[in-house]
Amino acid sequence: MAEKVSESSLDRVGPVLALGPENYTDPEIFRREREGVFFRTWQYAGHVSQLEKPGSYFTFSILDQHLFCVRGRDDEIRCFYNVCQHRAHQLVQGEGRKHMLTCPYHAWAYDLTGTLRTAPNGDVVPGFDKDKICLTSVKLENFNGFLFVNLDPNAEPMSAWYGEAQREIREYVPQIDRLKPVFWTEVEEECNWKISVENYSECYHCALNHPTFSSGVIDPTQYNIVPENHVLRHYTVAAGLDGMTYEIDLDANEHAGDYGSWFLWPMFSFQVYPGNVLNTYLWRATGVETVTVYRGWYTVDGVESDAVLQLAGQDRNTTVAEDIGLVESVQRGLHSRGYRPGPLVLDPNEGVNSEHSIKALYDWYQTAMDRR
Ligand code: FES
Ligand SMILES: [Fe+2]
Repeated sequence: MAEKVSESSLDRVGPVLALGPENYTDPEIFRREREGVFFRTWQYAGHVSQLEKPGSYFTFSILDQHLFCVRGRDDEIRCFYNVCQHRAHQLVQGEGRKHMLTCPYHAWAYDLTGTLRTAPNGDVVPGFDKDKICLTSVKLENFNGFLFVNLDPNAEPMSAWYGEAQREIREYVPQIDRLKPVFWTEVEEECNWKISVENYSECYHCALNHPTFSSGVIDPTQYNIVPENHVLRHYTVAAGLDGMTYEIDLDANEHAGDYGSWFLWPMFSFQVYPGNVLNTYLWRATGVETVTVYRGWYTVDGVESDAVLQLAGQDRNTTVAEDIGLVESVQRGLHSRGYRPGPLVLDPNEGVNSEHSIKALYDWYQTAMDRR
């Protein structure tokens, strides 16, 4: 009888296949991603410039978990679940400034460190100790002015996840501490969040689909994407800077003429265009087959800039618009009864026509899902 080759040994020698379609379409897998990915990774909350004064706060959500960040009287920024510890009413809404966080339901009031200060008629409750009741806090880090949170109380710090990225980004954007968001564009895509992230994370599709990108901003022959810790670091050199639509003072600093991008797994990316122009990508999954991509643009003090406005418009009308069609077509294809996942194109020399970065995304995803 011929000996059968076990599937696992085939796996070891065979190509790496694209992830099965169910990972992008199955509501049950999406539900499992809550614990595996969304609630155990560093997620973007907001920008420090939204919290200028003690008591300034803003709300945000990670799936159905509603949260808020607030600056304390001690200037420290904290993040809490947006829920009152009495009978679970939501505590604050939108953004603004408060001296006390008073619940709209029965007026329990918390100070800016989250400790309960007053509870009307609470004295009648035997053993009621206000000091023992406080809002549930969430891990928060200030990453060059960008606030990230992690719902896992045991999460490793961002430096362990992202290595040298914080320092590198600062080198590419020396004015980063003075930046404020100047505007956002918001793109709804009908696809699973991972399809959009994967599309962002490879440039195998660029030559065919992004004529402006390939012939304008960067030199495609020198493009490479390198996984480092949980970062996908995009390396490239800017193509002839003469073609840029805005002026760049190349002597301004070491990286004035450079392009750089740091994707922080799983859902945020910093991108720097020549002239130290910072912009960001934020992915927020809104369902198993829908995601919103927020593109943020920043200038010193949030001053409107024609150059940045033009760059953002060009980006929206070319690269972003071109990608929507791609990711939505893939999502439809994943429902096809005729699809058999094909091999990733893993070039040992990496480079623009290799999908090794997708392999890295798969590895990080599998690890996250396995350790749930
Ligand atoms: S639920 Fe907040 S005071 Fe009652
Ligand atoms: Fe693309």
